[in-house]
Formats: sequence, C-alpha cells, structure tokens
Amino acid sequence: MNLDAIQAAEAKLLLTTYERNPILFVRGEGVHLIDEKGNRYLDLLSGIGVNALGYGHPAIENAIAVQSKKLIHISNLFFHEGQAELALRLTEASGLNRAFFSNSGTEAIEAALKLARAHAGMKRNEGKSLGTKILALEHSFHGRTMGSVATTHKEKYREPFAPVMPDVEFVRFNDVTDLQEKFSSDVCAILLEAVQGEGGIHPVSQEFLKAARELTQSTGALLIIDEIQSGLGRTGKWFAYQHYGVRPDVTTLAKPLAGGIPLGAMLCTEEAAQAIHPGMHGTTFGGGPLACAVAVAVFDTIEKDHLLDHVNKVGSYFHEKLDQLKKKHSAITDVRGLGLMLAAELESAELAKTVLAEMLKRRIIINRTSETVLRFLPPFTLGTEHVDEAIGTLDTILTEHGPASTGVHAHTKGGTHIG
Ligand SMILES: Cc1ncc(COP(=O)(O)O)c(C=O)c1O
Repeated sequence: MNLDAIQAAEAKLLLTTYERNPILFVRGEGVHLIDEKGNRYLDLLSGIGVNALGYGHPAIENAIAVQSKKLIHISNLFFHEGQAELALRLTEASGLNRAFFSNSGTEAIEAALKLARAHAGMKRNEGKSLGTKILALEHSFHGRTMGSVATTHKEKYREPFAPVMPDVEFVRFNDVTDLQEKFSSDVCAILLEAVQGEGGIHPVSQEFLKAARELTQSTGALLIIDEIQSGLGRTGKWFAYQHYGVRPDVTTLAKPLAGGIPLGAMLCTEEAAQAIHPGMHGTTFGGGPLACAVAVAVFDTIEKDHLLDHVNKVGSYFHEKLDQLKKKHSAITDVRGLGLMLAAELESAELAKTVLAEMLKRRIIINRTSETVLRFLPPFTLGTEHVDEAIGTLDTILTEHGPASTGVHAHTKGGTHIG
C-alpha cells in the first residue's frame, strides 16, 4: 500500500487517536529516518524518546536476532534468563532494590500507584496512620490508563473518562508551600516527574524535591519519581533524580528501556516491596525474554559506549547553541532542560506550529508540547554536526517567520536545507 492508500484505509479502520503527519517511514539509519521515496530526515524526537540508540543499532539488532531464535515469550509462571540480569543492572544504577517489569510506561505507573496503596495498607496494619491520597503535580503527564490518567493534570485527558481513580490532588509545580499545605498523613504517595516532559521540559526545583522527600519520610508515604521520559541516561545520568542527590522510594522507566521493543519497569525499595505478594499484581507479557534481552543490550551499550558522557557533552553543546539562538531571536522566550531532554519555548503557539511544520518541510523532526514549547528528545548518539544542522535550520525559519525577522536581528548566514 502506498501512503494515500494507507491514509484512506486508516481513516476508515482505526480509532482516531492521533493526527499523523503525512509521511510514510520505511526504515532508519543512525539518527536518520528514511521515507518511502528515499528522503532522509534528521530525527530529534526518536519516537518520543524511545530510540535512544538511534536506528539500526547492531547491539539491538543482534540481541533481537539471537533471543528471537531462543525464546520470545514464556509468561511469568516460569523463569527465564532476562529479568534477573536486567533487574541487577537497573537496581545498581538506580540505588533501589527490586523491579517489576511491565509493557509500557502507563503500566509501570499503575504498578507504582498500586504499590503505594498496598504499602499504605501494610503500614496501617502495623498501626501507622497513612491514608490513600496521591499527590501529583500540575502539568504532569503519567499516562493514559485509568490510574495514570487520574494523576495526569491536563483535564482534556481525564474529563471525558470521568470518574477516574479518586483520591488524587494536584499541587502547584515547584510550590513548596502548596505542597506542605496539601500534604498530610492522608497521603500515601507523592508522584512527580524529575523533569516534566509533556508539560514542557520543566525540571523540578531542588527545594521542591527536597521538601517532597522530607515530607514523605516524615510519615512513611512513598516518593515516586516518574523517569519514563527522563530516565536511562536522557539527562546525562542514569536517572534524572541523581542530579538532585535525592533517592525516591519508587521510580518508573519505559520509553528507551528496550530500544523500541515495548518494556516498562517499576523499581522500588526493599521496604516498599514488602507490600506486594504473589497474586496481587501481574502481567502476561511484561518482562518477556525478548524485551529483557534487548534491554540488557541497550543498557550495556550505554555503558560500553560511554553514552552518559556523550549525552552530557552533546546536550551542553545543544543547550548552548539554543541559548545563542535565543539571544538572536526574541521569539524564543526560554531555553531549558538537562542533557538531551531540551526545550525552546516560543512566544506563541502559532509560531511554534509554524516552526514545527517548517522544520518537517526541511526534513528535521522535532515536537511541540504545551502549545508553545519546541521539544527535543534526540537519540543519545546525536553528534554536534547534527545539532549544527538543526540550529542552522531553526535560525533560518525564525528569521523568515519570527517577529524579529523584520528587525535588526534579521541577518543570518542561512540554515541547512536538506533536499
Ligand atoms: C513521564 C511519562 N510518564 C508516563 C508516560 C506514559 O508512557 P506510555 O506512553 O509508555 O504508556 C509518558 C509517555 O509519554 C511519560 O512521558
């Protein structure tokens, strides 16, 4: 089927959950995607933060080939080689003790929410006073299933499906006073992203995270840090919370974990894990042999190829170049992020939409979130030459379309136009 035929068929056959861009990708190479006509696109989104090693990485291809010949699925009723291997790596990297594997981010969050409720129940049985309320943050995104969506702030995601899971309250982002006021022994967990992704790449403040840690410690509630977008090296450390010197009781991973094969994980302390017993929670597919084997290969590649250092280096370079662009174009109101989880905020949603479309025309893939925010989640293997290409193109587009384009800042050497 060609693109037209696929579009027509999907329009009739699929639930209309996404407004897709009219491009048919057929393969990928490194940091590039290639469409059915052979056009190459520089991918600064990596499948929304999933393809951390880029496309066609030999470690992933090899792990899939080898494991698919041995065993793809076995269920969680039997042992296989992968879960313990992966759990060992993830617990060492995170400073946590135990893992539960799921298929997606939202399921990792569901596991964390269920753990928080079960843990509070365990504490109540021990005579402690701990309620069932979850505190989440304004502008959070934790997923689409009924529990996760209840902790996701945007009303348009929750409201059509009401009533969602009760007993969730939202705290103003980075507002310590609001957190202190809403926290009590009714709370069984505080759930937050160390760097809000969908919310517009906003790192939580040191002060706020410290307060969340101290408050939860004071009652025995759990601090859950969602690292589904920020985790496994995207910010230049295995976990974004490691920038803050704070260790949560629970963390969640997914997106890059198995290099594009669906896999999520919830990691927790030994103490929290005591709340879960056989039969209380489970999954048919989660933590299968294929996904785990690939995840081990991804983890080992990040380590072997020193990709955390690389993310720090290229991330700083990218950040710096965006800062320079901000000085030149008043339409950029803010630049923020950590490692290769970066954003440039523009002065209007209209301009952000135009920039996105113009970048795509010039065959560079980025993303827009929170209306005005250009989000960059490139593969960890991105080079500075790719950053230069993206920045040059952004510069050209902002010169042509930004309000400053009519002013004294208009001069530019021009960006890279592909094709
Ligand atoms: C921080 C965060 N949590 C949870 C999710 C949900 O993950 P998934 O789409 O794999 O269910 C996402 C997805 O974008 C996310 O960014």
